[in-house]
Amino acid sequence: MLRKELGKGTLSRIYLITSNRHKVEEANIALKPFGIEVKQLHIKRLEIQSDDLVEIAIFSLREVINLVNERPLVVEDAGLFIPALKGFPGPYSSFVYKTIGCQGILKLMEGVEDRRAYFKSVVVYYDDDVGMKVFEGTVWGKIATEVRGTQGFGFDPIFIPEGSTRTFAEMGPEEKTKYSHRGRAFRALGYWIRNILEQQSK
Ligand code: IMP
Repeated sequence: MLRKELGKGTLSRIYLITSNRHKVEEANIALKPFGIEVKQLHIKRLEIQSDDLVEIAIFSLREVINLVNERPLVVEDAGLFIPALKGFPGPYSSFVYKTIGCQGILKLMEGVEDRRAYFKSVVVYYDDDVGMKVFEGTVWGKIATEVRGTQGFGFDPIFIPEGSTRTFAEMGPEEKTKYSHRGRAFRALGYWIRNILEQQSK
């Protein structure tokens, strides 16, 4: 728990509930400069259907709080939003990836001039003292015209972040995390934890 750990002067470990090892790797890259290690907890999460990533993440975290002893707990939910497709696939990104995949999105985008898109990540932190705290990160970019690169996961091969000419799948995890929605959300968590630690040590 945050305050108990604070008594010892450091908070060195958080537990991310996910089956996705890439998320754990990226969260570790983002939080390492803050001295925080991210451990993976494999627990099946229930994901409700909702238009709101925050609601989905909070619901799934609430479901598992009493099932595990590890603290602090973190869940992360993310999605790809394409304005030309009215925000699709958004909160349905996981299902859409499993069904039509990157090729399906490229097909929907055929002949579409406005290729802008953004990824959004919602990170929900929980410990028994502080309760829940939500952090968000967004990265704008565009949908490529073909699948490019072999690294990462999900829609990485078709997303080119602003400021780069390469897709996320053409970057290593370190470089992706500099730009990414997940990097931004986890860094926001890192700054918040650092802030509390500094306040406590005054
Ligand atoms: P999740 O529910 O947070 O696992 O994310 C839903 C889906 O969005 C995933 O299955 C991926 O297809 C996609 N997604 C989320 N984050 C990323 C990312 O960083 N890169 C590529 N695809 C992502």
